[in-house]
Amino acid sequence: MRQPRKPIRTSAIILIIGMTLTVGCSSDDISNTNDNNLSEKDTTIGQSEDTENQSVTEQDITNSDNEHPADASNLTENNQDQTNEDDSNVLEEVDQNTTEQPSDTEEIKDIPVVANYSSTEVLVNKNRSLPADYVPDDLVQPNVPFSFEEQLEKKLMREEAAQALEALFNAAKEEEIELVAISGYRSYNTQQSIYTWNVNTYGSEHANQFSAYPGTSEHQTGLAMDISSASADYALEEHFGDTSEGQWLAENAAEYGFIIRYEEGKEEVTGYAYEPWHVRYVGVDIATSIKESEVTLEEYFAEEMNATIHDSEDEK
Ligand code: DAL
Ligand code: ZN
Repeated sequence: MRQPRKPIRTSAIILIIGMTLTVGCSSDDISNTNDNNLSEKDTTIGQSEDTENQSVTEQDITNSDNEHPADASNLTENNQDQTNEDDSNVLEEVDQNTTEQPSDTEEIKDIPVVANYSSTEVLVNKNRSLPADYVPDDLVQPNVPFSFEEQLEKKLMREEAAQALEALFNAAKEEEIELVAISGYRSYNTQQSIYTWNVNTYGSEHANQFSAYPGTSEHQTGLAMDISSASADYALEEHFGDTSEGQWLAENAAEYGFIIRYEEGKEEVTGYAYEPWHVRYVGVDIATSIKESEVTLEEYFAEEMNATIHDSEDEK
């Protein structure tokens, strides 16, 4: 049985992330403010009190072929019964030129833009955006099994991450663990479509727990991949973390440079619900350190920054 979604208090998330980032990140990797003309839907709109309905994302729609994920009428009854938690398996059929129309009650988010957007160590989250026009220049398709046949942008990753993913999948296979790649790179426009659809469907308070505002998704870095398995019906759900594949992934990802980016119990630090399927490439050293100390990427950089401050004080 799937565990019920844990509520996340938005105000607490914003406070803690803000505090973490103030401590943990130098200002010199934030370049300027994001000037994108996007917005967030009013939290009162479309917010359902029904827990099951709140747990449905647009992944439910795109599990069916050739359906427009922005069109809720495409939901089948069966799909509506599913409880997927991520927006990652989405938009393969979206026409990139036809994005969801924003609500007339939206507000614009002005999120600082990082300067080190092309670094494998970039920290992207609710307070740190990528440039809207950032597209990695080394996107390739890793040679791993995918849950779909079509040649879509979400099969892509940056080259270093793609090679690491291949090594990860090969190591899993040697132990008879069959991982399946679901969703990697997403353009800014794709994320905009996904996010707007989620907000229009679930309301911003719920959507913001699992779907990134345009420019703030790790998928735009080309360093993230959503992974599932046949045993989890190729779904991106919390119960993937309970499967042998999900447990193998959590145990071994760091050896290949990946972290489980949104850990259980860290929702108020990362800003997102637990996503055992979302891995982020950061390199072996950082991934190993994060796994050993059981911290988030936010906390890792905060600790690094503190260590740097203390080192320079020692030199005085
Ligand atoms: N589901 C993750 C947070 C994203 O939208 O990038
Ligand atoms: Zn993801």
